[in-house]
Amino acid sequence: MIIEENAVFHLYTEQYSYLLKINQYGIPEHLYFGPPVQTTDAAALSLRPGLGWGSSVLLEKGDPASCLDAMALEWSGSGRGDYREAPLELLGQSTDFRFTGSRIIEGSEPMACGLPQAHGGSQTLELTLAQPGARLKLYYTVFPTALVRRAVLENVGDAPIRLGKCMSFCLDLPGSSTMTSFHGGWITEMGRRDTPVQEAKVVCESRTGASSHRNNPGFLLSAPGANEEWGRVYGFNLIYSGNHYASAQRSLQGLTRVMQGVNPAEFCRELTPGDCFETPEAVLCVSDGGFGGLSQAMHRFVMEHIVPPYWKNRPRPVLFNSWEGCMFDFNQRRLLELAGKAKNLGCELFVLDDGWFGSRNDDHAGLGDYTVNRKKLPGGLTGLARKIRELGIDFGLWFEPESVNEDSDLFRAHPDWALTDDFSPVYGRNQLLLDLTKQEVRDHIVENVSNILDSAEISYVKWDMNRHSIALGSKAHDFILGLYEVLRRIFAPRPQILLETCSSGGNRFDLGMLCFGPQVWASDNTDPIERLRIQNGYSYLYPQSTMGAHVSAAPHAQTLRATPLSTRGNVAFFGCLGYELDLKHLLPVEVREIQAQIEFYKAYREIFQFGRFARTETGWQVSDGETTLVGVFHTLTHAAPGYEWLRVRGLENRTRYQVASLSQALRIGQFGSLLKHVAPVSIDPNGQLLRIADRHVTLPEGEEVLTVSGGALESGIPLPPLFRGTGYDKGQRNQGDFGSSLYIITEC
Ligand code: DGJ
Repeated sequence: MIIEENAVFHLYTEQYSYLLKINQYGIPEHLYFGPPVQTTDAAALSLRPGLGWGSSVLLEKGDPASCLDAMALEWSGSGRGDYREAPLELLGQSTDFRFTGSRIIEGSEPMACGLPQAHGGSQTLELTLAQPGARLKLYYTVFPTALVRRAVLENVGDAPIRLGKCMSFCLDLPGSSTMTSFHGGWITEMGRRDTPVQEAKVVCESRTGASSHRNNPGFLLSAPGANEEWGRVYGFNLIYSGNHYASAQRSLQGLTRVMQGVNPAEFCRELTPGDCFETPEAVLCVSDGGFGGLSQAMHRFVMEHIVPPYWKNRPRPVLFNSWEGCMFDFNQRRLLELAGKAKNLGCELFVLDDGWFGSRNDDHAGLGDYTVNRKKLPGGLTGLARKIRELGIDFGLWFEPESVNEDSDLFRAHPDWALTDDFSPVYGRNQLLLDLTKQEVRDHIVENVSNILDSAEISYVKWDMNRHSIALGSKAHDFILGLYEVLRRIFAPRPQILLETCSSGGNRFDLGMLCFGPQVWASDNTDPIERLRIQNGYSYLYPQSTMGAHVSAAPHAQTLRATPLSTRGNVAFFGCLGYELDLKHLLPVEVREIQAQIEFYKAYREIFQFGRFARTETGWQVSDGETTLVGVFHTLTHAAPGYEWLRVRGLENRTRYQVASLSQALRIGQFGSLLKHVAPVSIDPNGQLLRIADRHVTLPEGEEVLTVSGGALESGIPLPPLFRGTGYDKGQRNQGDFGSSLYIITEC
């Protein structure tokens, strides 16, 4: 809801209030963003500058309250006495936009430039500000758990305007804070960094052409002392996939100025009379329930208002992907064999990754030529898809349409379609980008990909993109607008195709891409111990249903770490589960274990994918209100481990719950010579007998069922002991390094 009273605007839902007022100078001042308050609180919430601060520059002679530098603002200009960072820069000019009017719009105000927008907003406040020759509109759209802001600058004069920067929002929040942002690189995405926000500005930005795995656009600002369950935390994200910029800086007066938008680095756009520039939408959330509360608000917003409506709360299939198992080396026979095995395990979708087209036998050639390689696939895609579907499993396909290898028919026919600058080309994974700012390039991609999608029964697409850009500033923005046009034209008429986007893993894990495809391949790193950190990082801003999470082979391809299959499954369960390994080499015990994993995941998939998520002391939990699933994860084992407690959040104090551990299989081979302590006969730890037994026999692990009250579970109940070198007992958790357990908690 939005109401206006005495120049105060109150935007509110059951979760939050956002108050702003237009002051006597026509400047929008920020009053409040937090849990719900009343409109009549506006006066009490207004800042009290008193007699002001020394060295102030005033809008009105003699009025210390007219110092822009000391106000909490909704927007700001430059050269008029606010010396903090400005959200808008017109090259070489001061700016001084003042309020001229407002409008309350039902729903959202549609954008004209083709940027993706959140859907399902209830109402939008439009504030119009103006200065000679230019009009600025600030939009605020209300969603149940988030407020979405954006800005539009229009040239209403008769001379061109040179725009150097226009952020999506600017806001001055009270008090000091810490910025939590998420950084990394290929196979090491989403590392959490906490930086105190002080007078030296903190910046989180990307310049690679993509939202990037270096610096994800989503970030949080937290009050001192905030933890997972308590304290004020603000969350911000941008519905955008290109170069982004966010900054936070504390002022002398103790306000934190925060802003976010398209990166202004090298950005310059000339707006001729009548032109306008629309910023991407920015998402703002707040919670007094700590980081956990903030994540829940963001998750709900993304699930309800970002992902394409067709996929809202629609269960995602358990998939098998050919990449890690086959790379480029496959033929139809091998794929059908794999698809049969994947089906037998319980997978519902078979995804053929890179290598199915042109002369794409490694990453030096063929990119751009989406004509099926008949040597590998003599029946073509139509034939392969039919045969795979006859096995009772759906078929999905990989593309990388934004790039081209120089060694490709496409490049030979259209060398001018590659994105270039004034210098010799620079390569990323041996490929160039196609210039998506050109209409003919966009038309070609749309036609080419659409024809393939219509030529076979394809229910899933993995849309990959494996290099950084060379496009700068305004052109980088136009490239992203071109990408959005292409995605919209291909997938809007085919909403039932599940689109999983990918950019070398999580190089473009952002709300812009999620508007087109509901899930993103979170990382090429599938080592579960690495994934604990990577998925944990994503979980601050993105729900589990957006993360592709696969079980792969051990030892792992990037870390050489050997981990139990149970832990690989337990970690991947907290996302969209898939398998990505060569199934030919699975042992009978592994086949049985994977079958059990998939059966278990299917039984609880809605909770894993869409349930309420929490980060806990020992791992993660998800819940639909009736059933709670808790993962307890270990990394390196220590000798003589102490007690450990299972703490569960969000239960009813007096209700009784059943706590059941997920039955896991322990490989007996891992006990080696220790078996002599329990076996009735002497066993050679390196002998044939143990090798054969290890293929077929497993030990049950840590199985137990008990009932307990919600109150006790909230406080924490002791878990079965961990292995301590004092003997084998089937009631204990005999896990060793990288072990994990999963608990299913249901009302009795
Ligand atoms: C990078 C992706 O992240 C991988 O999953 C795989 O699809 C390869 N590209 C294929 O080239």
